[in-house]
Amino acid sequence: MAQHSFRSSIGARFGLRDRSGFALALGGLVSLSAFNGCGGGDDDTTSTAAHGGSAGHGGTSGQSGKSGASGKSGRAGSGGSHAGAPDQAGSGGTGEAAGEAGRSSPGAGGSATGGSNATGGSNATGGSDATGGSDATGGSNAASGAAGESGAGGEPGHVIDPTSFDGKHVFRYDTFGDDVFWTQTLRINEAIEAALDPTTALGLGLKVDADALPPGVLETADLSSPATTVALIGLNAVVGVKGTVDTAGHLTSVGITCALCHSSVDDSVMHGIGRRVDGQANHDLDPGAIIALSPGLAGNQAALDVLNSWGPGFYDPRWNEDGINHPVVIPSIYGLKDVPLETYTGDGPISYWNSYVAVTQMHGQGQFFDPRIDVAVIYEPDLVTPKLPSLFEYEVSLAAPAVPASAYDAAAAERGAALFDGAAHCSTCHAGTTRTDAGTTLHAASETGMDPVTAMRSATGRYRTTPLRGLLANGPYFHDGSAKTLAEVVAHYDAALSLGLTTEQQADLTEYLKSL
Ligand code: HEC
Ligand code: HEC
Repeated sequence: MAQHSFRSSIGARFGLRDRSGFALALGGLVSLSAFNGCGGGDDDTTSTAAHGGSAGHGGTSGQSGKSGASGKSGRAGSGGSHAGAPDQAGSGGTGEAAGEAGRSSPGAGGSATGGSNATGGSNATGGSDATGGSDATGGSNAASGAAGESGAGGEPGHVIDPTSFDGKHVFRYDTFGDDVFWTQTLRINEAIEAALDPTTALGLGLKVDADALPPGVLETADLSSPATTVALIGLNAVVGVKGTVDTAGHLTSVGITCALCHSSVDDSVMHGIGRRVDGQANHDLDPGAIIALSPGLAGNQAALDVLNSWGPGFYDPRWNEDGINHPVVIPSIYGLKDVPLETYTGDGPISYWNSYVAVTQMHGQGQFFDPRIDVAVIYEPDLVTPKLPSLFEYEVSLAAPAVPASAYDAAAAERGAALFDGAAHCSTCHAGTTRTDAGTTLHAASETGMDPVTAMRSATGRYRTTPLRGLLANGPYFHDGSAKTLAEVVAHYDAALSLGLTTEQQADLTEYLKSL
């Protein structure tokens, strides 16, 4: 099968997959001691390839060790609270607490077993950024320096504060070392350099961060030349794309960040070019068509057919794991504060899914382990796990956009609100201020008349009630985009739940949804 060859090409390249051995997975987590490291989040914000280099030297790695020693294992534990699959430690619970029982346990275990932890291997440090490959190397060197120091101290709890990363920076610019995959396996840098002129790139939904452009650049830029795209990437101006350009103008490496799918721009300069809007799903982005540009996939027609079938705003984050082609709408990720379970199917808390995506989709260098879906990926050093707590903080800080009063009819919305809580029974599931009962209940597809396939592929087999926010700034609606408009959402429920709403009531309910 195409998917398998795509998958096995990844596996062969990295030799990482171990779908049978939990022992290996746990071993990896323990030795990694999840939240050690990462020497100085401060550094991370300015990190460049230089980090990798300096980490490689004795002196600097000693320094990493020091900052490692300044942390507390307690912090590592709390960092862990945002991570982990509910089932990772067999706790089977839900929400953040379960997450804590999950990945943080192995993390804590690692710390407890000792010195090694300051390792913080994580010095993955800036690994984060730039040239992930070389950083990773630097990271591991730094790790050993740190381990030495912690060993000397003999205090197992000495780790670097994982919250010292800048979550916004991680979200926007951190590739977690995934550039190794995008550059060496997919070789997408070659395709960008050869043919991805800015007009084509904008057409594929890529966005340009106007704030990253020196004044006057746009006026003189040749939007039909791929060299301009390369220059924009070199300026860190293509949202969610992070690359290294050498002095001859070649794109020597490229990777992606969370912002690729979950940030857009306000179009203040022109469509596709403006100020970043973090958390807003990029519904113009055609991730499948972009990945399909990769020379590394040439000849794999079945994989290319799948990738080209998704279209703008859709992505299938499970296809390379289970081989099923059934993409979902890329969701906006603002307004998630106090929403205990993430994804359409409520597989776990925010950091669970962040870790899943960073490791299995972006192909960052990290660890992800969930026996419920039979996925175990181990990568050392782990450039993902130490950053999850700060990434979490940034995500929950993102508020849904305010809705202008002019966007809906206030009187109709007020009548709609009454229906939402009353005759239409919406609030039985869309409950409370977050308008979701996630955390207490997940729903069978049949309860809302949904297509069951996505649920069946997930860890829970059910759907999470979507928290309703920023609805007008989004759409299509439902996990599969089956409702193009909010009026279609309401019509869907009227039929599926046999509500018998009048046309006027449906219109009122629609106005209310617009106001959320
Ligand atoms: C290639 C596009 C892509 C990239 C890159 C990506 N995501 Fe996502 N993200 C998705 C899709 C698609 C979903 C929906 C998955 C589902 O529900 O099954 C999703 C879901 C989420 C959710 C859950 C939203 C909700 O309402 O429950 C969060 C939070 C999230 N992503 C954060 C991140 C972070 C942080 C990163 C970087 C580590 C990231 N994503 C990278 C496509 C992407
Ligand atoms: C039985 C529980 C339940 C009831 C009742 C319910 N919903 Fe939902 N709602 C869900 C679930 C589960 C989803 C996610 C479905 C999916 O993504 O496929 C959802 C999704 C939605 C969405 C899509 C949000 C998005 O961003 O994609 C909207 C809008 C919505 N519901 C509005 C309503 C309205 C209006 C009513 C009342 C007419 C209602 N819901 C009744 C459970 C419910």
